[in-house]
Amino acid sequence: MDTSSFADRDGFIWLNGKLVPWRDANIHVLTHGLHYASSVFEGERVYDGEIFKLQEHTDRLIESARILGFKLEQTAEEINEASRQTVAANKIVDGYVRPVAWRGSEMMGVSAQNNRINLAIAAWVWPSYFSPEARMKGIRLKLSSWKRPSPETIPTKSKAAGLYMICTLSKHQAESEGFDDALMLDYRGRVAEATGANIFFVRDGVLHTPTPDCFLDGITRRTVIDLAKARGIEVVERAIMPEELADFTECFLTGTAAEVTPVSSIDTYQFTPGTICAQLIKDYDNCVRRKIAA
Ligand SMILES: Cc1ncc(COP(=O)(O)O)c(C=O)c1O
Repeated sequence: MDTSSFADRDGFIWLNGKLVPWRDANIHVLTHGLHYASSVFEGERVYDGEIFKLQEHTDRLIESARILGFKLEQTAEEINEASRQTVAANKIVDGYVRPVAWRGSEMMGVSAQNNRINLAIAAWVWPSYFSPEARMKGIRLKLSSWKRPSPETIPTKSKAAGLYMICTLSKHQAESEGFDDALMLDYRGRVAEATGANIFFVRDGVLHTPTPDCFLDGITRRTVIDLAKARGIEVVERAIMPEELADFTECFLTGTAAEVTPVSSIDTYQFTPGTICAQLIKDYDNCVRRKIAA
């Protein structure tokens, strides 16, 4: 895997209609997206050369932009095709795709009515790091002091760059104390999500997950809910308070990057990744690789 800076790699990036050499995919410092966070993005995974749930990701990208008040120049079909071209040009079998759309440099101020909407799509090799056995050890989360905001404060349904400021603050806070990731509560004090993934809990064989009313309803989250239901596991979407963490036996995160990642602790609350985690890791792997579920 290439460990050089993301600005200095070989390969190609799709930028506003064509593939350009990786190092030439640059923008000016006076870019609205950089100064005012008028930027939306996606994170997708490539498994065996195919982008998993590409259509859903492309639809969400377009919707994220619409929520921020801008319209991409490309249709969903054109974005899908550009995404596939980028994966092919970089010869990626197992990897990650990052489409990003942003307001350009034409106007420099809060108002950005006439700025061009740019779109770039990058892709790089990124295999799943953990074997299912290593994954089953679980990761350690810290409760963040930062909260997911109210939908009246910021458009929480948009996968907008601005919302990730809270995630980086939370993740850095957790990492500085030796944790792997942070769990954020929402503005009401309810359990919300990790910095790049949704969260699930198990109690008495039933899955519990927070209702996504102020954070991303992840594509992986929805996939895992369907997989669990197909196994006959009951899934309850509801408000979950932090005091309840003591009652759960298993816990895991879901996300494009995280896939299904068991959690061993949140602050002093302990969980033991067990049969439901193991089953859903396996089912998810079968699903993304289009194997027949065992
Ligand atoms: C903050 C946050 N929550 C949840 C998710 C999970 O979303 P998905 O499963 O669509 O990748 C992500 C990843 O995109 C995320 O960044």
